[in-house]
Amino acid sequence: MVHEVIGEFRSVTKRFGAMVALDGLSLKICRGINGLVGPNGAGKTTAIRLSLGLIKPDKGKAELFAFDCWRDSCAIRRRVGVLYEKLAFYDNLSGLEQLKLMAKLKGVSDSLVELKELLRLVELDEFAHDRRIGGYSAGMRQRLGIAQALLGDPELVILDEPTSNLDPLNRAKVLELIAFLNKEKNTSFLISSHILPELERVCSNFILMHKGKLLRQGTIGQMFDKSATVSFIVKVQPVESVFALLKVEEYVEDLSVVNDSLHVVVCDVGLFKQRLPLLISQVNASLDEVKMVKSDLETVFKSVVKED
Ligand SMILES: Nc1ncnc2c1ncn2[C@@H]1O[C@H](COP(=O)(O)OP(=O)(O)O)[C@@H](O)[C@H]1O
Ligand SMILES: [Mg+2]
Repeated sequence: MVHEVIGEFRSVTKRFGAMVALDGLSLKICRGINGLVGPNGAGKTTAIRLSLGLIKPDKGKAELFAFDCWRDSCAIRRRVGVLYEKLAFYDNLSGLEQLKLMAKLKGVSDSLVELKELLRLVELDEFAHDRRIGGYSAGMRQRLGIAQALLGDPELVILDEPTSNLDPLNRAKVLELIAFLNKEKNTSFLISSHILPELERVCSNFILMHKGKLLRQGTIGQMFDKSATVSFIVKVQPVESVFALLKVEEYVEDLSVVNDSLHVVVCDVGLFKQRLPLLISQVNASLDEVKMVKSDLETVFKSVVKED
């Protein structure tokens, strides 16, 4: 499936003193749900701040909706909703008052009906609407932040670590909401996270960053295609003789015996499939089962980061 590109970074470099936060970063943001993933310090927040025109690139160019992120940041901010990594609210205001204020500042509708509808969407109940934000739990603050990012029905919503303060149940709810908004309103998202498995289910485009650079970009399928390693469980008798042969095969990255089965991690699936029957017949072993263990995004992530 080809996704329409709505934003692009071309060789963007950003330094903070001697620290190179973005190092010739090139990436594409597509219509749909984009997952910006990478370990802490990869440069995700810097990339997000740069896309909003909050910081200026030292080199290269960043565009959103064909606007230059630095020069045309006002045009961009009208079309984009944001949840920053560090939430900042007026703690003395109620949730409803906070939204009303932010709607006014952004110049979008502050009708009570619409604001209440937003709060309902993020499951902040009537009771919470008029309570001081200072008394909200971390989860409630996060959900209020998401409601705030959705003010004015933006075309793109940027969420920097939207689930980091949430328990698993609330994390799942936030992701459900994102998928729902994308389906119902065609809202696009750029979600940064260092927690990968949860994004696997909702994102149509992944942007994997490490040390200020793009490591890989594409659909979940494309992340796997080029994945460095795949795991297999092989049931053979006798285990020991096949183990000894596999141990010295150059494409085998890791090998262990668990519950009388071989656990094999390989970096070349084709070669492994070709060689395994030969090795088995060499020692007259019998093969009961070969199972590929679906490598999840976490595994891909770790192997790619390790490669780098
Ligand atoms: N304002 C800043 N001043 C100095 N260093 C910064 C600043 N912002 C980010 N950095 C550094 O740039 C790198 C990337 O940070 P960041 O973009 O926050 O990564 P991530 O969001 O992926 O965790 C980190 O090493 C961080 O310490
Ligand atoms: Mg960050």
